[in-house]
Amino acid sequence: MVQITLTVNGEPVDVAVAPYKTLLEVLREDLNLCGTKHGCELGECGACAVLLDGQPVLSCLVLGVDCGGRAVTTVEGLASDGRLHPLQETFADLGAAQCGYCTPGFLVTAKALLDEHPRPTRDHIRDALSGNLCRCTGYQQIYEAVEAAIAKGSR
Ligand code: FES
Ligand code: FES
Repeated sequence: MVQITLTVNGEPVDVAVAPYKTLLEVLREDLNLCGTKHGCELGECGACAVLLDGQPVLSCLVLGVDCGGRAVTTVEGLASDGRLHPLQETFADLGAAQCGYCTPGFLVTAKALLDEHPRPTRDHIRDALSGNLCRCTGYQQIYEAVEAAIAKGSR
């Protein structure tokens, strides 16, 4: 086991990780943060997306031991002061989350987009979310939810 210290959702965390475990496995199995979803494990579905130092990454493709000293944001870290992030509100309000399995990955990827580009076009949103797959919504509601969050002044 390898002892690492990282920041998870704004809090410092010490954790002993098996060197072969992915960040996805460390989050879900060692830190009990199960909001990040376990999909293909091949880098193809986007269900496991988290932010690493503010950039979206596929946590199934990142080793946990390589995350020492870095900052990870998962879907659990989007709400603040007991309030949902505007993206979470609009995803819920507009039917952008149906079974919900893909939703955490979409939310963190959309947050990264809005942090960098507060007013993206529809094409830019579609492009930024193109690595996230959804089997339920047809994507239209997802794009509309991101645009609604922008209208609310989301970042
Ligand atoms: S579980 Fe990581 S991309 Fe599918
Ligand atoms: S809401 Fe079911 S996979 Fe996207």
